[in-house]
Amino acid sequence: MDIHSFSRPGEIRVRHLSLDLDVDFDKHILTGSATLHFDATSRPELVLDTRDLDIRSVTNAAGFELGPKDKILGSPLRIAVTPGASWVRVDYSTSPDASGLQWLDPPQTAGKRQPFLYTQSQAIHARSWIPLQDTPAVRITYEARVRTPEGLPAVMAAERAGGHFRMTKPIPSYLIALAAGDLEFRPLGGRSGVFAEPSVVAAAASEFADTEAMIRAVEEMYGPYRWGRYDLLVLPPSFPFGGMENPCLTFATPTILAGDKSLVALVAHELAHSWSGNLVTNATWSDFWLNEGFTVYLEGRIIEKLYGAERQAMEATLARRELDREMESLAEADRVLHIPLEGRDPDDGCTLVPYEKGALLLRTIEREVGRDRFDAFLRCYFDHFAFQSITTADFLDYLRRELPTSVPLEEWIYRPGIPPSAAEPHSDAFLRVDAAAACWQRGEAIATSGWTTHEWLHFLRTLQDPDLARLDREFQFSQTGNSEILCQWLLMAVRAQYDPAWPLLETFLCSVGRRKFLKPLYAELLKTSEGGERARQIYAKARSSYHPIAQRTLDAMMGR
Ligand code: BES
Ligand code: ZN
Repeated sequence: MDIHSFSRPGEIRVRHLSLDLDVDFDKHILTGSATLHFDATSRPELVLDTRDLDIRSVTNAAGFELGPKDKILGSPLRIAVTPGASWVRVDYSTSPDASGLQWLDPPQTAGKRQPFLYTQSQAIHARSWIPLQDTPAVRITYEARVRTPEGLPAVMAAERAGGHFRMTKPIPSYLIALAAGDLEFRPLGGRSGVFAEPSVVAAAASEFADTEAMIRAVEEMYGPYRWGRYDLLVLPPSFPFGGMENPCLTFATPTILAGDKSLVALVAHELAHSWSGNLVTNATWSDFWLNEGFTVYLEGRIIEKLYGAERQAMEATLARRELDREMESLAEADRVLHIPLEGRDPDDGCTLVPYEKGALLLRTIEREVGRDRFDAFLRCYFDHFAFQSITTADFLDYLRRELPTSVPLEEWIYRPGIPPSAAEPHSDAFLRVDAAAACWQRGEAIATSGWTTHEWLHFLRTLQDPDLARLDREFQFSQTGNSEILCQWLLMAVRAQYDPAWPLLETFLCSVGRRKFLKPLYAELLKTSEGGERARQIYAKARSSYHPIAQRTLDAMMGR
């Protein structure tokens, strides 16, 4: 049972989707049809999820009715199925405000001359652009034809052949993805490459040069990559996430193009989802940690294999600190791995808890049983549940059968906080940074040559009430091309009410739509009345360029 879907897959289960869409950049709508194939049945009703869809007709059915709109779930589309039928076709168009689509005007793109469209279906936004059983418990194959204007090619997260696409592996609906715009392609390796706007594609190709090595690293540990190609699509900066693991085609924010591969853990993360998430999928959004906790664990193993244990130790230490910080602000109920989502939008359960607490649980089990046994277990887990959607209980049954441990699993999964026996990351490099930070605080000069992005982030997060003018004079943070460092710098500037940073802050908030950056910056501004005033001014200007998902988060923060 998935509380976030009206569908009843126990009665009729859709197996295949055939999609035919026209992309209208002027009206900001998709128009076309979705043909849903299912096993022939005597059940009288097929219920689909929709949100803000304009349903024109349903073919090969005895009738249909669109139910009232629920604020979180959208509207059920109840289709009276003809006895013996095995398909229906829904003709429809999307709304210009579809929650799963972002339509960008030319000024919001890198090239500034062409419009851009992309979808973001996770968690429950596929229903805003396709009528379907929008639950991760249902897996379907699909094919699609997508018509776009000349010069604005469409890509989908599937096998591609011209404007035609095919996904031959059964996937959950949240992994269906489409983008269209002025896109160019650069190969990276034999089975990988990157799409981006022409002015971005070279930088993207050099940043992602290690992609093929990452794929091989996971394959050595956890079995073959089963999706054919692995490509990346770099989106315009309004993309609300860091990355999205759409199968065969990861979507990524341009804010990871730092020039020195220092932020490619995000690629490792999205690639890892090809095993944890896309192959073995959370059956409900309360089981989200099965996707994200496992993926953060795999991500760390990739980083360690490619860039060494010290780099991974730094990334894990930074993440652990962020987890502790966020956890403090969360209700007890949200500090558990199995998230209670009754009456809530699954997007609201997306905190660091499923990610980092989930990964900590796996590292804690690894520490007890040893890496070799844990890797063997994970490899079998991915094989055993391949192309299935599973619950936390399914995982626990399997773990208890295959790899008994003394780790207090119930406590980890159903109780708030981090059990004291958790595996703790440790970084020697950060001990040296701590020492340097102490010197700096005493007014001394420090040696920072060779510091990576991670050391700089740790340094900045360690300083107490620092003199920002002195910091910027010495290290030029306001000129950094690294989005993570810039965001950290701006956060400290807001906290210290450091006026010289205001123009930079405004430019950043007006040009980047990544929620991970927007949320803490606006939150910090909102802590004072003067800052709140500024936040509202900037938001009034920037809001229309943010993705609907980011708008929703920020509207709530601003009390709109
Ligand atoms: N699948 C998530 C993004 C997501 C989660 C979208 C929930 C919608 C609802 C993706 O794999 C992810 O975790 N992205 C992270 C980056 C990662 C390196 C932690 C992000 O976007 O910040
Ligand atoms: Zn993820």
